[in-house]
Amino acid sequence: MTGTADGRVIRVALLGSGGSIGRQAVDVLARHADMFRVVALATGTQRAVLEEQARRLRPAAVSLAGNQAGRHGAAGLDLPTGTEFVAGPDALEVLATRQDVDLVLVATGGLVALRSVLAALAAGKIVATANKETLVAGGHLVMPMARELAERTAAATGNPRDPMASPLGWLRPIDSEHSAIWQCLVGESPAAVERLWLTASGGPFLNATVADLETVTPEQALKHPTWKMGSKITIDSATLANKGLEIIEARWLYDVPLAAISVVVHPQSVIHSAVQFADGSLKAQLGTPDMRLPIQYALTYPERRPSSAAAADLVAAGRLEFRAPDEGRFPALRIAREAGQAGPRASAALISADEVAVARFLAGTLSFQGIPRLLDAAVQTFGAGQPAEPPLADLIALDTEVRAFAEAYR
Ligand SMILES: NC(=O)c1ccc[n+]([C@@H]2O[C@H](COP(=O)([O-])OP(=O)(O)OC[C@H]3O[C@@H](n4cnc5c(N)ncnc54)[C@H](OP(=O)(O)O)[C@@H]3O)[C@@H](O)[C@H]2O)c1
Repeated sequence: MTGTADGRVIRVALLGSGGSIGRQAVDVLARHADMFRVVALATGTQRAVLEEQARRLRPAAVSLAGNQAGRHGAAGLDLPTGTEFVAGPDALEVLATRQDVDLVLVATGGLVALRSVLAALAAGKIVATANKETLVAGGHLVMPMARELAERTAAATGNPRDPMASPLGWLRPIDSEHSAIWQCLVGESPAAVERLWLTASGGPFLNATVADLETVTPEQALKHPTWKMGSKITIDSATLANKGLEIIEARWLYDVPLAAISVVVHPQSVIHSAVQFADGSLKAQLGTPDMRLPIQYALTYPERRPSSAAAADLVAAGRLEFRAPDEGRFPALRIAREAGQAGPRASAALISADEVAVARFLAGTLSFQGIPRLLDAAVQTFGAGQPAEPPLADLIALDTEVRAFAEAYR
């Protein structure tokens, strides 16, 4: 195969290239080198990883956000000839809006890339995001831009069925649940959608009692039964905060009310999520728990290509189980849903508080059960303020305020 269906090579900026999603994205991009050219790479602190990725992919530009960039500058990095080093606080935005970039893949954690996502969409780039914080805190800013790009495409092509005439053509989810829902929605009328079903593995404490949860250690919480991910999202999976964030993420991506989004615990992680339609039918997407699959779908959409991930095998999967989530033992799910109902300000407070809560749990200064307590306190304290739909500058200011609150929380 050579290039996309129209023979074009898609030029990619990868933000967060050294992380769990970032490294898997590098594998997918390298495997389909005929279809993609990596133009820009950015990571936070992992200098050696960035150098190795730059040698492998020969991007036009890279950036390293952490202190090491300040100490060594471009001269301290061993980069291939022709690879420019971009420094400074706007580095991600500079990379994401380069003229030679078609698609920006967001694999950073937290809110660090929100400004560059907005800038990329304003510059007419496609954004594929694994980062859920972008949507949970900034869905009210991001989705109208994706919708406008889709409307412009529909007007230009005169074809409402053009894949890029959908907001999902411009703002592509990589989270496996949201990718599954996206895949289920292809070819369906939005008016026929009755309910979205997000599946949750249940994490390592699926069968734990409330008393067990009081003594959970970081080491126990980091052992996810089915997915291998970065530590923040692994802890979020153990508290079910991750599923709560995904409810809010789904509400923005698919423009459905929160009340029409349900969670079902499915410990095998074979069904990645499902959509229920007006006739009661359920359409689900199944696959092995391997993030290279949703990363690849977001990159090659609407094409499908062979993947290095193992193919789904129903016989090997054997029994598939489902049960309702227990919000009594896992209150973070309820707190997140309530934050989603309260609006973007409350969701943004939730995100910022959760970043600190997880970091504190991993550092030993907050208990596992302290995480939902802190989340609840932050949403109660900051969620009801004004403006309810904060612009970017207010979101960033709120992030600083909530983080200080969460650090001081006892
Ligand atoms: N991992 C998964 O399977 C998975 C699944 C679904 C969704 N997600 C979502 O995807 C996002 C990334 O998750 P992850 O597990 O891949 O996290 P991760 O392993 O912690 O990776 C985060 C990456 O962001 C980089 N970074 C941080 N600050 C940066 C900055 N200012 N500029 C450039 N890069 C910066 C880090 O750089 P350094 O490491 O170099 O410091 C790292 O490469 C999260 O929002 C998560 O919720 C992840």
